Amino acid sequence: MFVMVGRRSMSSLKREVEQAQEEFSQRIDRVTSVKDLEVVRIDFLGRQGKISTLFKQIKTLSVDEKKELVPLLNNLKNISEDLIKKSKDRLVQQQAHAVQLKQKNFDVTAGQTGLLKGHSHLYSQFIEEIENIFISMGYDVLDGPYVETDYYNFTALNIPQDHPARDMYDTFWLNKKNLLLRTHTSPVQVRTMEHCKPPFAAVVPGFTFRHEATDATHDTMFAQCEGFVIDKNITLSHLFATAQTFLKTLFKTDDLDIRIRPGFFPFVEPGVEIDMRCPFCKSGCSVCKKTTWLEVFPGGLIHPNVLRAGGIDPEEYSGFAFGFGLTRLAMLKYKVNDIRLFLSGKLKFLEQF
Ligand code: PHE
Repeated sequence: MFVMVGRRSMSSLKREVEQAQEEFSQRIDRVTSVKDLEVVRIDFLGRQGKISTLFKQIKTLSVDEKKELVPLLNNLKNISEDLIKKSKDRLVQQQAHAVQLKQKNFDVTAGQTGLLKGHSHLYSQFIEEIENIFISMGYDVLDGPYVETDYYNFTALNIPQDHPARDMYDTFWLNKKNLLLRTHTSPVQVRTMEHCKPPFAAVVPGFTFRHEATDATHDTMFAQCEGFVIDKNITLSHLFATAQTFLKTLFKTDDLDIRIRPGFFPFVEPGVEIDMRCPFCKSGCSVCKKTTWLEVFPGGLIHPNVLRAGGIDPEEYSGFAFGFGLTRLAMLKYKVNDIRLFLSGKLKFLEQF
């Protein structure tokens, strides 16, 4: 007696055909999507599928046995193909119908709760507010490049090469010689003088960069607002009145004292620090650190060397300039206690404004 390896008996193959048929009809009944249907098709009619495998196994049978089994298997194959096709048509139709129904019932006017609404960033809102105050006082709004040259950021502002005042600004130097990220908005002063004939008045709100360690009150990128007025007979009184009017309008109060202290900046002479009375208290609070004063508005009369660098004759014209920390003012006005929140992208913070 010998055993033929791999040869299957006729009766066991017949049973497998019947089983395949049964399994096929069960599975096709349960199919609910075109995707599921494709899985069934591959399992039965695919190249490695059950029906193809049975065809391969039949090859080992005798001619008579084949005569009986091949028609059975062909029949199974035809029925399966037919059913797959019909099911597919039906499912495609059903899916299309479901989409149609959804579209028909889609109410474009229905309100949705929990949706995030976008709005301008606090910076954009605050800059607009500041611009409007200065526009109402007759100022133009100007802009300048973030990538500046050594000349406009320092030299033209009366801070020559190797001058110790350069240490006031921790600078991000770029790989290209003489280029840097502007450390303040003041470079726009000389850029403007080169193009405009006095009299003129302008503000320049914009970002500035300092190579500093960050903490709750320092960030490497923050905003300032430069302002300058050049005309005949401009004096410090004009600067003081401008500062007070601006701060009163911004903090929406008629009663806001300012205080003036000397301050040093190489591009102004004399230079001043203008403080304002804390708008949040009468006798000291956490915002003013119990002093009732807030240091907010540095400025001064534009140094003759700066006017000269801009091609303006200091004998004929004079001007004042200021450059306040726009971010700092926003922190005071909106009681933001960490400067890093502004550019953090945190929705919890941004949604409050
Ligand atoms: N640019 C100065 C700074 O960033 C501020 C300033 C501007 C002071 C204009 C006086 C006049 O520190």
